[in-house]
Formats: sequence, structure tokens, C-alpha cells
Amino acid sequence: MSEKINTVNANGVNLSIPPLKVAIIGGGLVGSLAALNFARNGHNVHLYEYREDIRTSELVQGRSINLALSERGRKALAEVGLEDEVLSTAIPMRGRMLHDVKGQTSVVLYDPCTNQCLYSVGRKHLNEVLLNAGEKFPNIQYHFRHKLKSANLQEGSMRFQCDYEEQQLEEATADLIVGCDGAFSAVRQQMSKTLGFNFSQEYIEHGYLELCIPAKNDEFQMPPNYLHIWPRNEFMMIALPNQDKSFTVTLSMPFKVFEGIRTPKELLEFFHRYYSDAVPLIGEELLIKDFFKSKPQFLLSIKCNPFHFADKAILLGDAAHAMVPYYGQGMNAGMEDCTLFFSILREPHMTIGKALETFTERRVSDAHAICDLAMYNYVEMRDLTKRFSFKCRKMLDTTLFRFFPNYWVPLYNSVSFTSMPYSKCIANRQWQDEILKKIMFIVLSSAVLFIGALYIVH
Ligand SMILES: Cc1cc2nc3c(=O)[nH]c(=O)nc-3n(C[C@H](O)[C@H](O)[C@H](O)COP(=O)(O)OP(=O)(O)OC[C@H]3O[C@@H](n4cnc5c(N)ncnc54)[C@H](O)[C@@H]3O)c2cc1C
Ligand SMILES: *[C@@H]1O[C@H](CO)[C@@H](O)[C@H](O)[C@H]1NC(C)=O
Repeated sequence: MSEKINTVNANGVNLSIPPLKVAIIGGGLVGSLAALNFARNGHNVHLYEYREDIRTSELVQGRSINLALSERGRKALAEVGLEDEVLSTAIPMRGRMLHDVKGQTSVVLYDPCTNQCLYSVGRKHLNEVLLNAGEKFPNIQYHFRHKLKSANLQEGSMRFQCDYEEQQLEEATADLIVGCDGAFSAVRQQMSKTLGFNFSQEYIEHGYLELCIPAKNDEFQMPPNYLHIWPRNEFMMIALPNQDKSFTVTLSMPFKVFEGIRTPKELLEFFHRYYSDAVPLIGEELLIKDFFKSKPQFLLSIKCNPFHFADKAILLGDAAHAMVPYYGQGMNAGMEDCTLFFSILREPHMTIGKALETFTERRVSDAHAICDLAMYNYVEMRDLTKRFSFKCRKMLDTTLFRFFPNYWVPLYNSVSFTSMPYSKCIANRQWQDEILKKIMFIVLSSAVLFIGALYIVH
């Protein structure tokens, strides 16, 4: 390696890193995106996925049927040339539509100034688009029905259980192991055995369950271009539109409340009391069927540090940072991991070991920041959205945003509609809070002075 001057070729392929055999564990949203990126950089990719190929299976299993895609995810999709294809079937959501207990609705636009919006995308569809795109690369090989059972990260060796059979084990090796295997990552589990690996996980009191508002006469039953929210302090329900004109409804509440609803009668009473306008839309029969069909799912938040092991393994997506879903950023953050990692990989004089280390260095604080923000929004969405003070703050934020669009970007907007590092979004918000406090102080003290002056004059 004598010439180190021009190490990146016209395709952005970093010639200082020789082609590696890369094993990606997990073919979900982040794993299938990472596979595309590694392949474009000239590496030999083997993607191992526990489930069968979702493109050919009938079974739709797993979590949340649709997701809110925002700027960070869009940017990562654009980098592999898939943004337009994904957006062409996505449904824009321009704001929150709030439903109160009486069934009255009000709209809070996400961005009245420049009209940015979230996009509702189907999880399965998005995963299929990504897997199909990977099929076109001769240097990507898919291995479905392969579950990672154990790995020796130092040696780069792995053992997989195939076809859901206890006995049938397959062995493989790789230069680099990439853990995209979600919140319960097996790769992370291996990493956690190494010295100096910090890890924390937190289950929240709330669980969630998915319901459906079906299409009626082939039409949406509610305005489609909103994220619908029913905030009820302790509970919350949201609904996102689907391509087939139905809505997927996510009911989120403490497990003890779920447990308290045991019969169809109790369920209907509960719904008529808190979500009366949703009952005729879902339909009593379907409500009862969907509610009792499945158990509420757990939600958890996971932080760890570092995200890599030597020059041998790295975690991306939920495997590195799982969060509660209340900011709609889990997938977006996981896709942004790819944006960051592959931009580091393209830096001149990069080695794989240095790239992994740099990724941890640059990503950990932002990953932890979005986990914290998601936890914060867990409170805000079900409670604050209704409060007068929240609406005031929102109005002030929006007004300042309108006048100083480059200077005053509200927290929600910087998270969802920019690529500002998450930790900077938080710092920004703290700075804005300080200013607002000062403004409030000036306004209040002027009022006091003014009233005082009037008093003296009289
Ligand atoms: C209710 C809910 C709503 C959400 N809404 C949003 C939203 O609106 N916007 C948003 O951005 N995010 C949202 N998220 C978060 C989002 O779902 C995740 O952040 C995202 O799916 C992470 O992708 P991933 O590829 O890292 O992990 P996953 O999607 O979990 O994929 C992991 C894959 O690895 C496979 N796997 C697991 N273990 C193994 C193993 N041992 N061997 C081989 N394969 C394995 C699994 O089968 C799976 O296919 C939501 C999450 C929930 C729960
Ligand atoms: C792990 O946590 C401890 C205590 O908070 C901290 O001092 C240390 O720097 C952390 N290590 C890593 C790798 O984050």
C-alpha cells in the first residue's frame, strides 16, 4: 500500500479497505439497508435472517404494521437510490389530528412554515423494497431461516440454527459481523461478554396492542393525511393510514389496565367511555375480535456502549439502541446509523478497525439522546398535547419558527425534519427554553411595571 493519496474511487468505494466478507445478522429494515451499502462498497455480503423470506411468506408476524418515515430515514434511502420508490406508495401525514373524549378533533400541523411531513409506510412493503434491491447485487447472498445461536467475535465464527430445527446447525465465518438483529440482539449478547461493555435496559409500564379501522366503501373513514392521536393521560391511542385505506390503530396503556379488561362488555364500556368516536369506525365486532386475539406487547429502551468490538463486529439499529416508539424515530435512527457508518467508511485513509471505533465515538451520545427523547415523548404525547401550556409553547415555537426559520427550529421539527445530531437537538431545545424564560420574564415584569405606573399616576 504505497499510494495513499486518492483512496476513494469514483463510486465512493474506499480502496484502502480491501473487500471483506461481511456477515449481516438480521434482515429487517436496518439489516437489509446495511447489506445494500456494504455491497455498493464492494464487499461480499452474507445476510442471515431468522424468519423465512417475507416476500414469499403469507404470515405477517412481528411488530407495528406501519411506521412513520421522516427525514433521517429518507436520506438513508436516497443514498441507495430508493427514496422515490418508497415515497411513491407512502402516505404523507401533515400533522397530528387530536381526538378529545367527546370526539371533537383539532389539528396541529407539524410544520406550518415549510410544510414538511411524516410518511406512513408499511413495514413489510419497505422491507420488501430493500430486499428486492439487494437481489440485484451479485455480491449479496441471502440466508433465510438462519438464526444466529452463538458467535466467537474474535475469530469471526458463527453458528446458525437452520429451518427452525433444533439439531441442524450450520457454521460460517466472516471478517466482519454486523449485528442488525433488533432489540434482543444475539450479536450484542456476545459483545456484552467483552470487557468494558456498558449496557442498560428499561421496560416501561405501558404495553401496546394493534387494532384496525377498516376501509369503508373503499374509502378512508377519517382524513388520511394526519397522524391521529387520542391522548388520555394514562392511556393513548394513535392511528396511521395504510395504502389500502385502512388505519392501523395502536392502543397503548399500562398492563394493569389491559388486565382489567376481561370481557367484551368491559371492553365496549371502556371504549365508549374513552374512545367513543373510534368505536363505530373500528366496529364493535372487529374491536372485540382484535382486542382479545392477541396479548399486549412489551416496550423497552436499550442503551449500550460501545457499538463495536475491535475490528470484528458492529451493532446497527435496534441492536445498538432500542427505544420506546413515541418519537417515531427507531427505524429512522437505525437507518441514519447506516448513513453515518458508510460516510466514515468512505473517509480517506480509513481502516475497518478505525471505522468501527469512529462510529462508536460519533454515534453513542446521539443514540442515547434519541432514546431519552423518545422516553420524554412517551409523557408528552399522551398528556401534554392536551394541556394549555403545551399549546401555548407550540404556538410560540411556531411563531418564532415562522420568523426565524433558520434560527429557531422547534425540537420536534429538528428531530423529524432535519439531520441535526440528536444530542444537538436537545441542546438546542435547552437554549430555546432559556430564551423563552427570559422573554416571559420581560413580558411579566413589564406588565407589573406598567400596572404599577398606572397606579402611581392615578
Ligand atoms: C409499536 C411500534 C411502533 C413503531 N413505530 C415507528 C415509527 O413510526 N417510526 C420509526 O422510525 N420507528 C418505529 N418503530 C421502531 C422500529 O420498528 C425499529 O426501530 C426498527 O424496526 C428497527 O429495525 P432493525 O432492523 O434494527 O430491527 P428489527 O426490525 O427488529 O429487525 C431485526 C431482524 O433480525 C432478525 N433476527 C433477530 N434475531 C436474530 C438472530 N439471532 N439471527 C438471525 N436473525 C435474527 C429478526 O427476525 C428481524 O427480522 C416502532 C416500533 C414499535 C414497537
Ligand atoms: C461505562 O459506565 C461507567 C459509569 O457510568 C463510565 O465511567 C464508563 O466510562 C462507561 N464506559 C463506556 C465504554 O461507556
